Amino acid sequence: MITEKQITEKLSGLIDPTSGKTLKSNGGIRKITIDKENNKVYLIIALADDTSPKKDDFQYELMKILKLELGFSGVRVEYTKLNTRAAGETTILAPNSKVNFLAVASGKGGVGKSTLTANIGVALSRMGKKVGIIDADIYGSSINQVMEITKLPTQRENLIIPVLKEGIEVITTAMLVDGNKPIMWRGPMLQKLLKHFLNDVKWSADIEYILIDLPPGTGDVAMDIQQLIPQTRQLLVTTPHPSASHVAVRAGLMAKELRHPIIGVIENMSYLEIDGNKHNVFGNGGGQQVSKELGIELLEQIPLTQPTNGKYHSLFLETDELSKTYDRIAEQIIDSFNKK
Ligand SMILES: Nc1ncnc2c1ncn2[C@@H]1O[C@H](COP(=O)(O)OP(=O)(O)OP(=O)(O)O)[C@@H](O)[C@H]1O
Ligand SMILES: [Mg+2]
Repeated sequence: MITEKQITEKLSGLIDPTSGKTLKSNGGIRKITIDKENNKVYLIIALADDTSPKKDDFQYELMKILKLELGFSGVRVEYTKLNTRAAGETTILAPNSKVNFLAVASGKGGVGKSTLTANIGVALSRMGKKVGIIDADIYGSSINQVMEITKLPTQRENLIIPVLKEGIEVITTAMLVDGNKPIMWRGPMLQKLLKHFLNDVKWSADIEYILIDLPPGTGDVAMDIQQLIPQTRQLLVTTPHPSASHVAVRAGLMAKELRHPIIGVIENMSYLEIDGNKHNVFGNGGGQQVSKELGIELLEQIPLTQPTNGKYHSLFLETDELSKTYDRIAEQIIDSFNKK
């Protein structure tokens, strides 16, 4: 059976047509995934110019090696642009990057994705992890509200400087939106934006976890994330109501299709507790349903919370009872990444 190492060796001498350097010296082999069962291989290759017409010749040479020499019956290659910044500068997408990526998805809107993303970030940070959050919800960016951030990221020498809140580095699309005016993102523009968020942000060099707040639905952003960061893991959010669990299952199936491991599902707004009694305001069973249908674990059930002194806070800090629930979720996330 051919191994990833053997493929790397075979491909390392291929010449990037634009830079004239070998894939090995360029660090152009970003990812190799072998599908043994179907004798297929999936690759991500970075080229100095991934749009150059010379790419066709390169592709031909690549296919020759993979299909004729190594005998794969199916090959899928995705190209990305080599990072052109100065040598030695870190990028979270570099092949040797140790960053753990976690995308938070729900399918349905308004189930608490952004609230969970922010609070899981805070919990991870409480455990001493260095955390970044990307608000990729281009249609309804809300990380700023949840985290009570009033500043916007700034730009320096073509790099975006994240806003720091509770020790977390935050990048949000809100910086690109004019007030409440909706933007119509088109596919290519959207992918460019995500690439920009991944490549051109001055994250701390020692960042360990990057959480991505996905927009609702199972659309373009999830696909783009797959292309740009295929190692992303996913966390699903649902409410107890079937209308939410139904679409969460769809989001989960999409994650599976894209080969993102799902860490588990969290049921939010599970119940309202009054005088020690739990009331199932939004029905029950949604979390279990998702867990059962996708064969994943129901990690936690988070209750409905109410405003205190007339103000609703969505960020739960150490002093809040709910922070323990978020700590448990953060521990399970750390465990999952440690097992990889
Ligand atoms: N456990 C909870 N108890 C009470 N209110 C909650 C809870 N979780 C979230 N909310 C509130 O529900 C609303 C939706 O939450 P949030 O914005 O996190 O959801 P979302 O899934 O990110 O939504 P969208 O699809 O619009 O991005 C917010 O007003 C939030 O404060
Ligand atoms: Mg949101």
